[in-house]
Amino acid sequence: MAKRWTAPAPGPIDGWSFDEVDVPAPGAGEVTIRVRAAGINPADAKHVAHARPGARFPVPIGYELSGEVIAVGPDARGGSGEVSVGDEVVAFRVQGAYATEITVAACDVFAKPARLSHPEAANLLLAGTTAAEMIQVTRAVEGDTVLLHAASGAVGVSLLQQARDLGIRVIGTVNPDAEDSAERVRRYGGLPVAYGDGLRGRVEDVAGDAPIVAAWDAVGTDEAFDVSLALVAERDRIVTIVDPERAKSEGVLWIAGARPESARFRDIARARVLELAASGALEVPVARTYPLADAIEAVRFVMEGHPGGKVALLP
Ligand SMILES: NC(=O)c1ccc[n+]([C@@H]2O[C@H](COP(=O)([O-])OP(=O)(O)OC[C@H]3O[C@@H](n4cnc5c(N)ncnc54)[C@H](OP(=O)(O)O)[C@@H]3O)[C@@H](O)[C@H]2O)c1
Repeated sequence: MAKRWTAPAPGPIDGWSFDEVDVPAPGAGEVTIRVRAAGINPADAKHVAHARPGARFPVPIGYELSGEVIAVGPDARGGSGEVSVGDEVVAFRVQGAYATEITVAACDVFAKPARLSHPEAANLLLAGTTAAEMIQVTRAVEGDTVLLHAASGAVGVSLLQQARDLGIRVIGTVNPDAEDSAERVRRYGGLPVAYGDGLRGRVEDVAGDAPIVAAWDAVGTDEAFDVSLALVAERDRIVTIVDPERAKSEGVLWIAGARPESARFRDIARARVLELAASGALEVPVARTYPLADAIEAVRFVMEGHPGGKVALLP
């Protein structure tokens, strides 16, 4: 028997249950993976906190993982080609990564970049493909200066590295009281500025003569919106991944993995993000790991909002 976390009903994470389940043998086009690490994202908790249109409970938790293929169904072809028993792989987007074993569609399974550990690889693709879409929808290109809110977070750090690869200059907001956040932003090529009162002036000082042509918002605070709106001339070059209501009222962009156009873009972007990681251009800093059984404690730590890197669950 395998073990797996599910949300039995909409509500807070304390209601999740950790149960024994039978994992079905892989059918046509499927593979079974022994999970070595499951990635944790804020969406894991947010998406089951309330009843959402179309959501059917119980919901198995976790969208991404890294592990080893233990069975291959007929006609199963992985996202990066042939897939065989024993291969080390990542899988995204799946439902139920917080598990010891899982059977998933082979097209969502890719070769794990060898230079990443399982906890790193398990956390690469959700943040990485979100970041890729934020760059694409704001039309940011080489030579641009862009403002990034929540630069030290998972999406922020992926944005910094993908922007560096493209020659985009990024000014990134960080916790004024946490030197490690500023240090992380510098390490990945960004120019850190402290968020809080006076943010606009500090960003302008760092930008110098360069116009800020776009803004990437990974926090959704009023401050982030206000400063982006004050500094970026074109509203369709501001994107938030957090607050759809304010995005709508201000006429700025909002993207989310559940939207069909975002899902299509991100499915395609997986290959490029994996390539960047394989080349060493994209790292995934991991702050902590927890045993799979301690998933509630681990998710609570992430949801406090300052994890200092990614967090993985180890079966
Ligand atoms: N729509 C989508 O497709 C999508 C995809 C992925 C994530 N998201 C959402 O995007 C957000 C970020 O996700 P993540 O995985 O990057 O989270 P994360 O790794 O937990 O990072 C959170 C970040 O927020 C920063 N932060 C906290 N309070 C802040 C404030 N008042 N002002 C500015 N920054 C602040 C923290 O920086 P310090 O530690 O320096 O304070 C930290 O860097 C979450 O709300 C998540 O649900 C949406």
